[in-house]
Amino acid sequence: MAFMEPFRIKMVDPLPQITKEERIEILRKINYNPLQLSDDEINFDLWTDSGTAAMSHHQWAAMVTAHEGSINPDSFYKFEDTIRSITGFSHVFPVHQGRAAEHLLFSIHSKPGFSIFSNTMYTTGRNIAKRLGALAKDLPCKLISGDCFNGNIDCERLEQELAQIESGNAMVVLTLTSNHQAGQPVSMANIKRTSEICKRYHIHLYMDGCRFEENAYFIKIREKSYEDMSARAIAFEMCSYFDGIYFSAKKDAMCSIGGCFATKSVDLKGKFEEMVEAFEGRRRYGGLAGRDLNAVAIGLTEGLEDRYLKYRTESLSMFGDILKKAGVPLVEPVGSAIYINAAKCLPHIPTEQYPAWTLHCALYVEGGIRCNYLGHPMEYDDSNERENPRPQHFLRICLPRRAYTLSHMLHIGEVFERVIAKREHYSGMRIAKYCKATSLISLEPVKACFIDE
Ligand SMILES: Cc1ncc(COP(=O)(O)O)c(C=O)c1O
Repeated sequence: MAFMEPFRIKMVDPLPQITKEERIEILRKINYNPLQLSDDEINFDLWTDSGTAAMSHHQWAAMVTAHEGSINPDSFYKFEDTIRSITGFSHVFPVHQGRAAEHLLFSIHSKPGFSIFSNTMYTTGRNIAKRLGALAKDLPCKLISGDCFNGNIDCERLEQELAQIESGNAMVVLTLTSNHQAGQPVSMANIKRTSEICKRYHIHLYMDGCRFEENAYFIKIREKSYEDMSARAIAFEMCSYFDGIYFSAKKDAMCSIGGCFATKSVDLKGKFEEMVEAFEGRRRYGGLAGRDLNAVAIGLTEGLEDRYLKYRTESLSMFGDILKKAGVPLVEPVGSAIYINAAKCLPHIPTEQYPAWTLHCALYVEGGIRCNYLGHPMEYDDSNERENPRPQHFLRICLPRRAYTLSHMLHIGEVFERVIAKREHYSGMRIAKYCKATSLISLEPVKACFIDE
């Protein structure tokens, strides 16, 4: 059966209309840094899948009908029931974003010399760990081209690390799916083995579950013994191997704001409650409005339906196929986002001339597309980055949930085709200026002009 979006559109957001000549002018004005583009200068915003989903009419309706300002909000109990039934964790705390949960949880556990091991730790968690004097160390599995679970943690290295750590001086976080491993999922086998290791060493195991629903569906379609189970049942089993979960509701839960921490530990419940009340808000809203709690509860439920997840994962892999057909080299199989090897795409540009930035500028000029990077040229200042450097020559394309259609993807594929057809005419880039205080970076073409058409 041909691919079909399983929804109809009830509200439209017109795409800005900017000519190619205007885009060239804009690019010059922002010093070839597409991260400086303003929203109304972009046709296709593929920068992030965070906070960019189209919410359903059920989510909007529940937002409008939420009661606000209650000491005992009904919306909290809906939120709590939903998360309890999806994860099996009985103690549920709303927080305002994913990083708030990271901050509170890491503060409870961390002390100087404490280690947090991970398949890969997201940037926000890494920064928080560093501030708390803890070490966040990534132990990604070796990337095997074509492997279905390249988001796995390297269990042998984890055992070696834990064997040298004093008991109680470490914890483990599995990020599902793993942003810094090209958005790839983690297998149930890897989760189980990590859990066994953590139990043996009496170490807490937590899930950064921003995209755990997508991860559950990847397990369904890629791990043979789970093919007959629903994503919901798989997600429940996944959670059973962890001490707790935290997530940003801006991803799989398809909301503009929100986050959560949930655990089965009574001891942790008390400590987390104190931290929430001190830093986020009362325990039953954690800095969110009642309307946000309602939207998260419904978004999380919709995001775990097999029909939706089939559409979500198929649209990602189909988008990958469209780009491949246009000649784009990318990480396969596609996970929660598309990671393009810009160095291979523009082989005449050496990696020290930032082929990912050139490709990004070219996509903007040709089609008004904004993307993201796997690594930022100025990001590498901690030891973990030196040990596990994120390649700077990759461009990340995120697909906001339920926001773009198949015809948009086909159109973007044509933009890539046009860029690739004249690729040798694009110039590499060099950094003209960098301001550490603002992280503002200005680039300039290495050749006299960016494109010599
Ligand atoms: C894997 C992962 N963890 C944590 C976060 C932080 O979530 P938030 O942006 O809601 O603070 C993000 C955000 O992109 C993420 O992708």
